[in-house]
Amino acid sequence: MTDVRPDSQRQRKRVFIRTYGCQMNVYDSDRMADLLGSLGYGLADSVEQADLAVLNTCHIREHASEKVYSELGRLRDVKQERRGAGRDLTIAVAGCVAQAEGEEMVRRQPAVDIVVGPQAYHRLPELLAEAERKAALKRAGKRLPGAGVLDTDFPAESKFDHLPAPHGVRAGSAFLSIQEGCDKFCTFCVVPYTRGAEYSRPAAAVLAEARTLVAAGAIEITLLGQNVNAYHGEGPDGATWSLARLIQALAEIEGLARLRYTTSHPRDMDDDLIAAHRDVPQLMPYLHLPVQSGSDRILAAMNRRHGRDLFLGLVDRLRAARPDLALSSDFIVGFPGESDADFDATMQLVDQVGFASAFSFKYSRRPGTPGSALPDQVPEAVKTARLAALQSLLVKQARAFNQSKVGRIVPVLLAEIGRKPGQIVGKTPWLQSVHLEGTLRLIGRIAEVRLTAGHANSLAGELAGVAREQAA
Ligand code: 5AD
Ligand code: SF4
Repeated sequence: MTDVRPDSQRQRKRVFIRTYGCQMNVYDSDRMADLLGSLGYGLADSVEQADLAVLNTCHIREHASEKVYSELGRLRDVKQERRGAGRDLTIAVAGCVAQAEGEEMVRRQPAVDIVVGPQAYHRLPELLAEAERKAALKRAGKRLPGAGVLDTDFPAESKFDHLPAPHGVRAGSAFLSIQEGCDKFCTFCVVPYTRGAEYSRPAAAVLAEARTLVAAGAIEITLLGQNVNAYHGEGPDGATWSLARLIQALAEIEGLARLRYTTSHPRDMDDDLIAAHRDVPQLMPYLHLPVQSGSDRILAAMNRRHGRDLFLGLVDRLRAARPDLALSSDFIVGFPGESDADFDATMQLVDQVGFASAFSFKYSRRPGTPGSALPDQVPEAVKTARLAALQSLLVKQARAFNQSKVGRIVPVLLAEIGRKPGQIVGKTPWLQSVHLEGTLRLIGRIAEVRLTAGHANSLAGELAGVAREQAA
């Protein structure tokens, strides 16, 4: 194929960004792409086309960081091959593994040029300049004291004040980070150590970013935060705004049809937020509310600051406010000390609630967290058996939820091209994927779709009417 781009673009440097883990990382990767775009970097689809590779990493469970090291081995090989051809590949590791490992990362994989934590990536331009300077010195045969350029500070200034406004919106849906970090210190979790203390962005900055996103084509915004419902940002009126207050203000933005937020903590689910699920039509009937375990003993050992009854009480109040609310959750099986009776309590809670979807994990020992030092670690085989039992129940519930919607006509936000020719994929108000036949013209819009079949992970449907025009 001929390259028809102008010379200026053909010469452009390119960055390849690989994202691991949560939606927060997806948001951070988009912001890094915007920032690097302002430095003249275009996006590459593969490492082979790139001058800079960024791995935006996740540290939440062990296999997540192991994946990063194996990918780094592959990048090192590409870098070494390039050297012979006189073209370099700069390797940057961002995100929570970068934060947690710091210098250790460069020691374990010396091909890494830059290590930058999740609170410091607005400094990427300086770090890149420094890495280039070091590379030039190395090429000139100078011996350098340490390899790699490192920034894993929690800087006093907020990265949000130093990032350019977001550019493109993919298919009508956008993430918006409003809160970061966590002060809860659940005993299994690395987030308070890798993402730092809780911080809420001022409401005016959030509203301005939301307006920019809507102007760029977003009709759905998902508000992000590790502890999003603990949001307590400074309001334009000088008062502290809760998440509920922020949602009400966002709902006034013309053209913004859908609002979501994730991830929440049961302890921060206040009355106003529950009422918002009743009163704000743009707030979609879906809530991801991690419970982790159904056993009070284990919840206490996890330092979750809530018991089983608090969670079940919330479920009742939420369903009273919004009867069609789809509930999703996170579960950990095999936390240290978890007995058969504790696990049964989890199964029983799942049975009682009925979840529309869920994520479940085997407990993974994270160095530096209190849980990793606890006695009574649960044997791997027990964790495996418990996870299988839990997942089979959760899958049954998800399938039942999806099947309960079959026959209905619902608004679906069409988000991407499907795998089969002529197929597009969208999201229901309850966040399930729906596969249907449709043209690309519909992507980024909301269409009325008749649901025709329900599976464990998705639904099938067909267009039921004319797609609603995307708001201007
Ligand atoms: N082991 C297993 N699962 C974990 N999670 C967080 N830390 C661990 C861990 N050490 C899960 C929790 C959390 C989700 C994002 O990841 O369920 O809600
Ligand atoms: Fe981790 Fe608990 Fe904070 Fe969630 S609330 S990020 S699980 S410490």
